[in-house]
Amino acid sequence: MSQLLAIDLGTSSVKVLLADETGQILSQGSAEYPIRRPQPNWAEQNPDDWWRATITAVHQVVTDMRRKSMSIAAVGLSGQMHGVVLLDGRQQLLGPAIIWPDQRSQRQVQEITAQIGAERLIELTGSPVATGFQAATLRWLQQEDPGRWADVRAILLPKDYLRWRMTGEFHTDPSDGSGTLLFDVRQRDWSDEILTALEIDRAKLPPVQPSRAIAGELSQRAADALGLAVGIPVVTGAADTACAALGAGIVNPQTLLLTISTGGQLVLPTQEVHVDRGGRIHTFCAALIPGPNQPGWYQMGALLSAGMTLRWLRDEILGLWGEKAYTQMTSWAETVSPGARGLLFLPYLVGERTPYMDPQARGLFLGLTASHGQAELVRAVLEGVALACYDAYRVLVELEREPNQIIMAGGGARSQLWQQIIADVFALPVQRLEVGEQSALGALLLAGGGIDLFEPGAMAHEWAAYGPPIEPNPQRHALYQEILPIFRDAYQKHCEDFRELQKICASASTG
Ligand code: XUL
Repeated sequence: MSQLLAIDLGTSSVKVLLADETGQILSQGSAEYPIRRPQPNWAEQNPDDWWRATITAVHQVVTDMRRKSMSIAAVGLSGQMHGVVLLDGRQQLLGPAIIWPDQRSQRQVQEITAQIGAERLIELTGSPVATGFQAATLRWLQQEDPGRWADVRAILLPKDYLRWRMTGEFHTDPSDGSGTLLFDVRQRDWSDEILTALEIDRAKLPPVQPSRAIAGELSQRAADALGLAVGIPVVTGAADTACAALGAGIVNPQTLLLTISTGGQLVLPTQEVHVDRGGRIHTFCAALIPGPNQPGWYQMGALLSAGMTLRWLRDEILGLWGEKAYTQMTSWAETVSPGARGLLFLPYLVGERTPYMDPQARGLFLGLTASHGQAELVRAVLEGVALACYDAYRVLVELEREPNQIIMAGGGARSQLWQQIIADVFALPVQRLEVGEQSALGALLLAGGGIDLFEPGAMAHEWAAYGPPIEPNPQRHALYQEILPIFRDAYQKHCEDFRELQKICASASTG
């Protein structure tokens, strides 16, 4: 039987999975790297850190592999989206990677939108431009770091940099390409119109090929570093959200994948490109090419802080430690009735994408009383994230999409209470995805597809395993429907206050 290796280059760590062709996980490894914030709104990583972490994580797996005398038939890749890695003419890194949570390009987002026109931009690319997306970051570099920009010879996405280190070949795929906002989402290729408008030379961007296409072979140098055999085919791979949908077996346009990890994503596959002219969601290319039973795109509502809010509460407010603390926190929240005894939480701790596309949105507890304690705070946070997810879902419904069930994934899906709250808020049954690491699983499916071991779309259904459905409770749904307008108003009433406060306090800290 053949073994497949997947590398998922996440935002805080790289995850490596080794599996056989039936999807059975044989071994896994992972290694972390830091996000550097040289200025408050910036988010950078060192691509050399990614490579070193990949070597560490692959070595964890290779030790296991040697013991079981296995060999790898193909490698697949998945990765964090939107970020910029720059190489000069000698193929040396030009500074750190500027990654997706980076918010330095707020002015450039406005300029690009005004220059191309919001409607035209969404029509072509499937999405409004946001801070941290390549289009905005590259414009920032042109304006704010012209010296560095002048030396740029290659512009890569994070996973494409990793694959280049492995094979020496430059490529990208439609799913990651579409997350740059330099891409024609229908043609599944770079958009000449956008590239011309933004003065970006196509020759500096990698050629686009399907996610399951073989991009090259493991070079001698990379094989030595990773402890693998030279010549293993390396498949192009896909963006982590596209891989997650595939790995979760979501190829059905009626099934919504709701992932609660650091951020949150609501992903719904679609057979055609349906854009939101209101610019509240993204329509990006999926990992598989469009076919009769194979949606080639997905619509996505993206929350910037989802699981991160609970972690913030644990670390910064409650001062608790470790994974076990989450079990303790949710057991407190279980003792509180729905609605958290009148406490409402806006989860926009680092701004928000869907539905507001507002990097200056901020969090809020509304309705605090002296009788509220830890339990109410936790319940309000769980509910606030669920309501923010619901707002993203309502955009999909407005666009005439009607999912009839939710598959919940990510760390948040480990909490049965959170699953129940989501079911109640949405009035839809929720099933938990049993396997974690669905992005890496998607990359494994692409690896197998790349060497024609199987059809990834069909195999995705067989590999995915779900927990029992959690049914919504109509009374609780009615209560959340009453709370929802107050939740929405809380943002509308305060969005100017958030801006004003940031302005006043920024001048106070520089004054
Ligand atoms: C998607 C997004 C994130 C990153 C996380 O638009 O920004 O999901 O891909 O890795």
